[in-house]
Amino acid sequence: MDGHSSCGKSTMAKALAAKTGYTYIDTGAMYRAVTLFCIEKGLVGNDGTIKVQELESLLPEISISFGKDADGKQYTILNGRNVEKEIRGMEVSSKVSPVSALPFVREAMVAQQRIMGGKGAVVMDGRDIGTTVFPQAELKIFVTARDDVRARRRYDEMVMKGENPVYEEVLENVRQRDYIDSHREVSPLRQADDAIVLDNSDMTMEQQDEWLMQHYLNATR
Ligand code: DC
Repeated sequence: MDGHSSCGKSTMAKALAAKTGYTYIDTGAMYRAVTLFCIEKGLVGNDGTIKVQELESLLPEISISFGKDADGKQYTILNGRNVEKEIRGMEVSSKVSPVSALPFVREAMVAQQRIMGGKGAVVMDGRDIGTTVFPQAELKIFVTARDDVRARRRYDEMVMKGENPVYEEVLENVRQRDYIDSHREVSPLRQADDAIVLDNSDMTMEQQDEWLMQHYLNATR
């Protein structure tokens, strides 16, 4: 499942994985974890400038994996530490696009994703899964929604987590990420030719889950 940021891909992907017994892999969390590493090591400035050579030499030190808490909720582990909360904050969100545009970062993440998903029975969400990571996937969904709808969803999510976001800033971040993700040189966000498009701007969660389940059943029948 690929698509724009904050359009509910991961919620849908998780729900499908739970219903089918497949493993859910959140590739955005992996790029976010690399970005957190960069922030903590002082490798990315406030304007998004990255100390590219230093990052490239430190990349082998980055280990990313996923764990599950007692409620079965997945969390992201960076070098042995649960970083789920930090990687969802505004600081990481505002710096992740330039980090994830670096070819050597993408190469390393894609290699890991192919290993993680190589045995099949996975629901993987990201930006380049259907085009680059698994071009042979049996079912490719490209999810989108209007940017104001996506900004509102992200805003509500942050408020629920006790953060204090400014709606205009969240909208600006959504637009900026759309632009950078779609215009980078390596694996830009693009709908695979054989992907099925879902615009969920005016759909409820139930409607989109039902829509996805129908396509899953068609693809696996
Ligand atoms: O899905 P997300 O918003 O958590 O993803 C965070 C960022 O990571 C997003 O701005 C683009 C990047 N990303 C990517 O380049 N390729 C992927 N497969 C997944 C995410």
